[in-house]
Amino acid sequence: MKTELYYYTGTGNSLWTARLLAQALGSAAVRPMSRTDGSTVTAGIEAVGLVFPVHIWGPPRRVIAFANVLNADPETYCFAVAVNAGQVAATLVQLKKILHARNLTLASGFGIVMPSNYIPWGGPGPEEEQRRRIAAAREKIGRIAARVGNRESRPVERGPFWQNLVLTALNRLAFPRVPAMDKGFRVDEKCNGCGVCKTVCPCGNIAWEAERPVWQHRCEQCLACIQWCPQEAIQYGRKTPGYARYRHPEIRLRDLTRERDLQG
Ligand SMILES: Cc1cc2nc3c(=O)[nH]c(=O)nc-3n(C[C@H](O)[C@H](O)[C@H](O)COP(=O)(O)O)c2cc1C
Repeated sequence: MKTELYYYTGTGNSLWTARLLAQALGSAAVRPMSRTDGSTVTAGIEAVGLVFPVHIWGPPRRVIAFANVLNADPETYCFAVAVNAGQVAATLVQLKKILHARNLTLASGFGIVMPSNYIPWGGPGPEEEQRRRIAAAREKIGRIAARVGNRESRPVERGPFWQNLVLTALNRLAFPRVPAMDKGFRVDEKCNGCGVCKTVCPCGNIAWEAERPVWQHRCEQCLACIQWCPQEAIQYGRKTPGYARYRHPEIRLRDLTRERDLQG
């Protein structure tokens, strides 16, 4: 089955998931959403998969924009993997509705639990727990590949009912505020002006003034800038100087910079 996997990522969990899935499927192309929108899906492709992190109990803005213009045939097998830190909530239900409006069916949708990269609420947790999550994710990706390979249609995975109700309401409240949430970023004295933050930002939200980053208020809150800064010089609020940074251990900076250099 010819498959195209489109991923969005801040710290590599979703890219790693997409790569593993592609390997298990055998013949899948892996493409970044930062370089293309959903209108460029190859005509006649048999299956399209979206792999992305859950942000504030829903899909990130970029993923919604991608799905809103997804130009696949109605008979294309569409599936999604929502990579999260334990609260997938109604993310995949939201995506299913968006695709439905485009006359597409989200035939299957899976949650994968990985270490959290949401640093304002703390670091990713003990290394042993991180390893446990990644090992469990690896196994689940194998099972997902088998289901996708068989083109199974099944209800999308979601959190418990009461949680979805509350968390989806919070998602609706927070969503319009996300672009300006970058007001919380600042650099401290460790910044050496290396520019990694600007390079890894998937939405070109970082300008450069006096050799320091300046956030432009069209942030997608992927947190790539703070997590990939080699000096740990970017902070968000007051607590992050004491929190460990997180990147997926098998994803390198060059995996993201290669993708993002090619943007223009
Ligand atoms: C802004 C933001 C919001 C997040 N919200 C959620 C959430 O609602 N539920 C959850 O389980 N994880 C949440 N997370 C954690 C990420 O979904 C998780 O760490 C994911 O694996 C990151 O994937 P990536 O490395 O591909 O960016 C959030 C992370 C960020 C940066």
